[in-house]
Amino acid sequence: MGVNSAEDFQSKIKRVIITEQQIKEAIEKVGKQISDSYDGRPFLLVSILKGSFVFLADLCRAITVPCEIGFMRAKSYFSGTVSSGNVEITMDLDRDISKYHVIIVEDIIDTGRTLKYVAELLKSRNPLSFKIITLLDKPSRRTIDLKADISLFTIPDYFVIGYGLDCAEYYRNLPYIAEYNERGE
Ligand code: IMP
Ligand code: MG
Repeated sequence: MGVNSAEDFQSKIKRVIITEQQIKEAIEKVGKQISDSYDGRPFLLVSILKGSFVFLADLCRAITVPCEIGFMRAKSYFSGTVSSGNVEITMDLDRDISKYHVIIVEDIIDTGRTLKYVAELLKSRNPLSFKIITLLDKPSRRTIDLKADISLFTIPDYFVIGYGLDCAEYYRNLPYIAEYNERGE
């Protein structure tokens, strides 16, 4: 898919499903909750690239206690718009997590396969504690047993774009979450 002009770009945005303001309010609430729970404890926010970079940037600024940030890149192989379950870690954390309370920061849990793989890997490294926070959750699509500890928005089975989430690498820069118009009507 090539998106070569503003017109192409706009034509695939079907409708906004979560506004900038709704995202902002939800993140403020969760930022407070995390600040209260983790105050005085060494904790690491682990962002799973690329999709969670926008969420992480806003979430960490809603946290008012000391925290550290790490990045990992997990590449899920797709057939169409569905992940195949084959996951590869193409960038790993640069530190030992056994002295940290770890919070994985994810953009969306769909089938759950990508996160399951990353979660098992990180748990095997014995962090002090382990939690998952996701911006979006599509529980109706889950094929394996995985639950986020904190989920900001539960959405139906739409393919969504924006606020870090892409379709073929485009649309990560939208400030809101929108439904993707597969047919470009
Ligand atoms: P899962 O392994 O099926 O849970 O898929 C996880 C990854 O697929 C997410 O981290 C996203 O990168 C991508 N993904 C799943 N659903 C969507 C969507 O609706 N829009 C954009 N990316 C998605
Ligand atoms: Mg992702």
